Amino acid sequence: MSRLTVGPGITLFKALAGDAVLQAALAVIEASPPRKMLTPGGKAMSVAMTNCGPLGWVTDRDGYRYVSDDPSTGRPWPAMPAPMAELAAAAAEASSFPGFVPEACLVNLYDTESRMGAHQDRDERDRAAPIVSVSFGLSARFRIGGTSRGGPTLSFVLDHGDVLVFGGPARLAYHGVDRVLPGRHATLGAQRINLTFRRVT
Ligand code: SIN
Ligand code: FE2
Repeated sequence: MSRLTVGPGITLFKALAGDAVLQAALAVIEASPPRKMLTPGGKAMSVAMTNCGPLGWVTDRDGYRYVSDDPSTGRPWPAMPAPMAELAAAAAEASSFPGFVPEACLVNLYDTESRMGAHQDRDERDRAAPIVSVSFGLSARFRIGGTSRGGPTLSFVLDHGDVLVFGGPARLAYHGVDRVLPGRHATLGAQRINLTFRRVT
């Protein structure tokens, strides 16, 4: 494990997340399978999504929002497994954000064609808490900039087990995934999983 300061409010922990967190994420995926949600404009996203925790992020023709039930089952999202919440809290604490208790974990499943365009995470009322992002499987080229669209950006590769925390001055930083790097991961094959832990209310 190594800890790198990428920029103000942005900390990267290489290879911090281990197998207990990955197995927990796979159990969530089994309980509530990821699906390609529709953007408000009606286009299917290239990333399949699900959630765990008291709240989950969804998008459809009615817009982006957090809901307590999985729209595809009508039941609450799976509970957030303790190893996931504990890792997110530890990474936040080590990045000067103590007391992080996530309310939502968005689980993103990528294949080698998936991308995520530059966006801000701004559907959360709580902007004091950071975003904690955990990556597994295939590596991906991640890009993060400032709080206005079109400014300078930094890009780096997120590998299996990496944990990225962005908060404080970077809480509303534009970020996205340029591409997933081709290959096969020993456990996940040609897939990438990303978990983002958020405080919402
Ligand atoms: C996100 O911004 O929701 C996902 C970021 C990532 O997949 O690394
Ligand atoms: Fe995001």
